[in-house]
Amino acid sequence: MLEKNPVIFIILAFVVIMIGTSVTMIAPFKWINGPGDRIAEVKPYTPLQQEGRDLYMREGCNNCHSQTVRTLASDVERYGYGGSYSKSGEFVYDRPHLWGSRRTGPDLAHIGLKFPDPNGAWHRKHMANPQSVVPASNMPSYAFLNKALDTTYSERKMKLLGFPYTQADLDELKGKSEMDAIIAYMRKLGTDIPVKKVEAPAVVSAQSNPFTDLKAIEEEAEALYKKHCASCHGEKREGTLGPALKGSAKPEAELFKLIAQGVEAKGMPGFSGSLDEQKIWKLVTYIKLDAK
Ligand code: HEC
Ligand code: HEC
Repeated sequence: MLEKNPVIFIILAFVVIMIGTSVTMIAPFKWINGPGDRIAEVKPYTPLQQEGRDLYMREGCNNCHSQTVRTLASDVERYGYGGSYSKSGEFVYDRPHLWGSRRTGPDLAHIGLKFPDPNGAWHRKHMANPQSVVPASNMPSYAFLNKALDTTYSERKMKLLGFPYTQADLDELKGKSEMDAIIAYMRKLGTDIPVKKVEAPAVVSAQSNPFTDLKAIEEEAEALYKKHCASCHGEKREGTLGPALKGSAKPEAELFKLIAQGVEAKGMPGFSGSLDEQKIWKLVTYIKLDAK
């Protein structure tokens, strides 16, 4: 009966679709992004970070990189770097958000936790020539960002977005390059919410290393090294951004502490949040016993 009257059919179909749309797409705005989702620690971008964010969009980095750690355990383990999955409150200052879904490259929502180096040495090398750090990378080179930052619109952008900057904050932009800006942005991502660092065991003695036979674990240790360490210590442990790691003279307990806690001020990240104790000991054995 109804199908014989196309006009009424279209109107009814439209009404039904609109009900569905409102329930799934409009109504949720009532209860998401409310004051309850705010996270006190999440700070607005500084002018330099905001410029970096705009460059990130200009260069289309988001076409290869997503920025949201999903709630899946495997995602948290892979991209959390000691942090948790992404919360809506982390994105209150993102206009537009850059969550994306395309993961040609790794998720970058927490990249600031992975490379906490205040000088951004790893990023600088990687951005200029990604293959020099990750040989199999298909990320293009961005060496051309080493040019002066155009700050003509900086002040207007900040006003429009409602970020409360003082002139002193804006002066931070003077003499900076586009590369400085994009690295400042990378270093901020994921770092607002404090991460509870897993403490290295209070007493680490050489005896606590359960892996005394290098041969038995060599393959696994080498794979761990390639995945987590090679981009700074070299594919063959010859040393690049960090020192060479072959047959170290340091005691095992000290090596364990170094790897677990890192020396963030000097560019060595701590791995206690992303590698368990067993894995760290395997790396210690690998560094200590294998001088090849
Ligand atoms: C064609 C795709 C592509 C584009 C475009 C791209 N990347 Fe990448 N990116 C990758 C791939 C693949 C990797 C993983 C290998 C590597 O580390 O180089 C990566 C890695 C990274 C990493 C290191 C991630 C990690 O967990 O170690 C950062 C940081 C990064 N990219 C930033 C950027 C920025 C900033 C831009 C834009 C200026 C950009 N990328 C553009 C593909 C891309
Ligand atoms: C982002 C770069 C980076 C990554 C990734 C990295 N390191 Fe380092 N590492 C450094 C830097 C830089 C230093 C030097 C720190 C200093 O000067 O105190 C260092 C120092 C060290 C030292 C002390 C060496 C010595 O003789 O003084 C050890 C051991 C070490 N790293 C092990 C590792 C292991 C194992 C991994 C992988 C799980 C790793 N590092 C990943 C950058 C890195």
